Amino acid sequence: MTDKTQSIHGQWSSRFAFILAATGSAVGLGNIWKFPYITGENGGGAFVMVYLLCVAALGIPIMIAEIMLGRRGRQSPINTMKSLAAEAGADPRWHYLGWCGMLAGFLILAYYSVIAGWALAYLVKAFFGVFMNSNAEEIKRLFENLMESPIQQIFWHTVFMVLTMHYVMRGVQNGLEKAVHFLMPALFVILILLVAYAMSSGAYEQGMAFLFNPDFSKIDADAVLTAMGHAFFTLSLGMGAIMVYGSYLPNHVSIAKTTFFIAGADTVVALLAGIAIFPLVFANNLEASSGPGLIFQTLPLAFGHMGGGWLFGLLFFVLLIFAALSSSISLIEPAVAWLVENKNLDRRQASIWSGSACWLLGVGVVFSFNIWSEVKLFDKNLFQLLDYLTANLMLPLGGVAIAIFAGWMMKQSHAEQELEIPAEGFKAWQFLIKYVAPAAVFLVFLHVLGVL
Ligand code: PFF
Repeated sequence: MTDKTQSIHGQWSSRFAFILAATGSAVGLGNIWKFPYITGENGGGAFVMVYLLCVAALGIPIMIAEIMLGRRGRQSPINTMKSLAAEAGADPRWHYLGWCGMLAGFLILAYYSVIAGWALAYLVKAFFGVFMNSNAEEIKRLFENLMESPIQQIFWHTVFMVLTMHYVMRGVQNGLEKAVHFLMPALFVILILLVAYAMSSGAYEQGMAFLFNPDFSKIDADAVLTAMGHAFFTLSLGMGAIMVYGSYLPNHVSIAKTTFFIAGADTVVALLAGIAIFPLVFANNLEASSGPGLIFQTLPLAFGHMGGGWLFGLLFFVLLIFAALSSSISLIEPAVAWLVENKNLDRRQASIWSGSACWLLGVGVVFSFNIWSEVKLFDKNLFQLLDYLTANLMLPLGGVAIAIFAGWMMKQSHAEQELEIPAEGFKAWQFLIKYVAPAAVFLVFLHVLGVL
């Protein structure tokens, strides 16, 4: 705790390294793959507004809380919660929060890896120039072919999982820190290029109107829950990923400033992805609500027709894969840190065990896109179920529990000491995590359950 200045797993070499890694965790498939398709499914502008509001009012304060708890505990989320509960004189069962988070990370990674596998498959297609001069129908067919093939998807899912395990094994400083350095800025540049192309595609205004003109009649309680859940998902909150990264953060780095940067960068990337994709959707008469295949059915069209499209397509998928990798590593890090602390395993063994278990569940997810697509529980196939359970339920609940712990359980003098922010800022933060976050999440849940 306060006397601990470093985690046994290592420490980021600087504040900048932490920012890169945490931004790497936040920016991923959630921004480029998921945000556009759920925005399309939920009618556009109003959904985007609710999402932005949730990032500002819930995401930012909870991220500050989560990093703070991690840095004060300096262990895996489970053990961090144990020692912080003891320090605060709170119920030791708070450490179950760490367990739930570990489980959520595990469930998310199972499907995350499958989708990242699609990106790998598309990287190869981009390399062989498959998108060149193709029309919307042909691009759609390509995606359907991939969906119909469990073998291909399992192959790419395996490749991605092996890559994830490889980077996790190398540990905090040698693995990611190096890779993320130049990848984030590069991803940003290529998104700007795609936006420029979208501006010339003819349906730019329609795309912008879809994204930014709110029509609240288009959303219901479920859409609000999805938008709120996505705010947690996209910022990697509520499951201990950011907490464990916080545990490697040197003392006296400003948590608040760092959080604003991460949340800002994450939001900009998501909006850029939306601005690049929706004009293409409308210009090619595609369905905005076509689901998880949306980016795979739109962006290749741009690559197939724009100048330099071969190269940009290749670069885009490389960067998307790295963005996914820097997130997948953080999904599994809480489990790896815990195995190392408690089960006497080294990082290598811990990565292999947790990665293999995740891989197996991922094979089930692959089947949910083909041979098991009709196997449903609560009207959802395995992919939809895992997504709903984690993003819409586990992450918001985990996030609120973090907010409640930081706001109500922890000694406020300790929080002040960690955050080192001016009094008014501290008060505003406290108000948001003590009252606003718990109330907002429970109100949305009650609405979805039909109680309100
Ligand atoms: N934030 C990541 C994305 O948007 O792709 C996904 C994610 C990573 C969610 C880590 C949760 C997490 F703990």
